[in-house]
Amino acid sequence: MPRVIYNTATTLNGFLADDQDSLSWLFVVPGADEAESGFSGFLKGIRALVMGSTTYEWILEHESLAEHPDKWPYDDIVSFVLTSRSLPQIPGADIRFRRGGVVDLWGELNDAAGDRDIWLVGGGDLVGQFAEAGHLDEIRVSVAPVTLVSGKPLLPRRLESDRLTLESVRQAGQFAELVYSVRSAGG
Ligand SMILES: NC(=O)c1ccc[n+]([C@@H]2O[C@H](COP(=O)([O-])OP(=O)(O)OC[C@H]3O[C@@H](n4cnc5c(N)ncnc54)[C@H](OP(=O)(O)O)[C@@H]3O)[C@@H](O)[C@H]2O)c1
Repeated sequence: MPRVIYNTATTLNGFLADDQDSLSWLFVVPGADEAESGFSGFLKGIRALVMGSTTYEWILEHESLAEHPDKWPYDDIVSFVLTSRSLPQIPGADIRFRRGGVVDLWGELNDAAGDRDIWLVGGGDLVGQFAEAGHLDEIRVSVAPVTLVSGKPLLPRRLESDRLTLESVRQAGQFAELVYSVRSAGG
């Protein structure tokens, strides 16, 4: 069965983005190249990803995908976007818009991933939905030396140390990369 991995950058105080969905604080952190090299290795093990609609719309805008659909960054990955709305499709990309519960999505997601892993891109509530459904195996966070007053939360659920085990710690530039395995609620 594929493993489900939440991999993201975060501020030191647990935000994915500021209140305006800006990542300007992230792109100025020294060491992006070191962090990026680890991330390309991670992507090789991924065949399916899941993101929420805010994240998808951020990529659409940030990469100007309406004008440059070839800039969609996840060509060999089946991409699931969770949304209750009708959002623009990117020509040539395998992007599947779905709504509803993780349990309903799981069969299709599992088939799409095949013998590789599933990347949860975010946001935090979406990852919480997977945790509640028992489909979250690993959390990999790149912690940036940044704090924000408020913003979009990393993972707005209560998971305590009986469920999270620190597996590794690595420095990449000014990022601290932490990997936690996640135990399901019953086991
Ligand atoms: N720091 C990083 O590396 C990093 C990583 C990932 C994301 N981000 C940023 O963090 C922010 C995250 O935004 P966010 O917290 O709003 O989360 P999000 O998960 O990107 O979007 C949330 C939206 O997705 C839709 N959705 C979620 N679950 C659904 C379900 N089960 N069924 C149907 N629709 C569902 C809902 O909108 P609708 O139904 O209205 O469409 C919901 O409001 C974005 O700005 C993103 O760019 C940063």
